[in-house]
Amino acid sequence: MGHEERPDLAGYRVRRAVFEQAMAWAILFTELLGRGKAVMYLIRKGLLRICLLALLVGTSGGACSTARTDLRTESVVLDLPSPSLDGGMSLEAAIVRRRSVRAFTSEPLTLEQVGQLLWAAQGITAPNGLRAAPSAGALYPLELYVILPDGLYHYRPDGHRLTRLTAEDMRLAAWEAGLRQDALRAAPAVFLFTAVYARTAERYGDRAPRYVHMEVGHAAQNLSLQAVALGLGSVPIGALEAASLQSALGLSDDHEPLYLLPVGYPSP
Ligand SMILES: Cc1cc2nc3c(=O)[nH]c(=O)nc-3n(C[C@H](O)[C@H](O)[C@H](O)COP(=O)(O)O)c2cc1C
Repeated sequence: MGHEERPDLAGYRVRRAVFEQAMAWAILFTELLGRGKAVMYLIRKGLLRICLLALLVGTSGGACSTARTDLRTESVVLDLPSPSLDGGMSLEAAIVRRRSVRAFTSEPLTLEQVGQLLWAAQGITAPNGLRAAPSAGALYPLELYVILPDGLYHYRPDGHRLTRLTAEDMRLAAWEAGLRQDALRAAPAVFLFTAVYARTAERYGDRAPRYVHMEVGHAAQNLSLQAVALGLGSVPIGALEAASLQSALGLSDDHEPLYLLPVGYPSP
């Protein structure tokens, strides 16, 4: 995230490069050595296994342990640091200091800060899976994304982790779909709440849209107060073209964009 590459992502890229190089050597080696199809097949299979084993060993250790590749989906999964449960600022101080902030410095957020903000909005806070913000029937229709300079990530409350959906900086797409509000391209992090209405509608029918909209308010307020407690600022943005944002970010059809929250250090 930001100007310097995070060690976890750097580790992933190195492992990936080593793996690709090893595969290229393996194929070259078998082409050179192979006398018959059977021999090539056996050598290829054996080397492929060794390469895969090296990749798996590499992903399980040391500084690289927070990033790994989900081999089924080929997406990068980042384990977030455990959230702090004692930030030091009182709730009252955060409430009185919260103001909509629309101008930010370019200083990037740390992975700890991003994780803390996601946790405050939708993190799991009880062993039975209940979350930081209330939800009608505990059905949890909200899906939370964060757009960072190094990509678009989807928050997975279960396991407190992020899945990277693309390594592209999508903040300009958010700015376009957010009616070109400058806060969206100035902030180092833009959080996006989407809703899967059907989860709530299955039980609550016509009341679902009201419930979902109440829930996004709860969750967004948690996020904005957490931002204040971290010395950051944010603004809730409801003026957006939901369909354009959904297609620009390549979101699932049932993840309907509702609310954007750019977050960063307030510009002096
Ligand atoms: C549902 C909702 C939608 C909003 N949409 C926008 C928006 O699109 N752009 C913006 O700059 N501010 C937006 N705001 C922020 C309000 O303008 C802001 O909360 C209001 O001016 C009061 O200022 P305060 O947040 O500093 O107390 C929105 C606020 C809410 C609750």
